[in-house]
Amino acid sequence: MSEILCRLADLNANGAKEIVRQDGNRRATMFVVRYEGRTHAYVNSCPHARLPLNWNDDVFFDSTGRYILCANHSARFDAASGQCVSGPCKGLSLTPVEIAVDGDAVVLRQPFPMS
Ligand code: FES
Repeated sequence: MSEILCRLADLNANGAKEIVRQDGNRRATMFVVRYEGRTHAYVNSCPHARLPLNWNDDVFFDSTGRYILCANHSARFDAASGQCVSGPCKGLSLTPVEIAVDGDAVVLRQPFPMS
């Protein structure tokens, strides 16, 4: 299975892009981030309260541009590993999504994570 999720050029200036799928009444989101030259993807669900991390479209990084920020209760996650480094779910991790980069295309390597 491989599906093109987006192009690297689709990521915003901070290097993030939310991907949304609607399947009937079910809505699922994941996001792609580019950090230190590598591309990572995670299910858009915070391990603290299982809420989407972002309040605004494609905004996932904190003001330093180093950590992924949960807008709900300010948990911060290492962008490369998805591990929470501060906040109410410290030690827990975002759920990674298997992707690959093929040229400019970000390709999904697993079924879309519908939660
Ligand atoms: S839901 Fe993310 S820190 Fe609470």
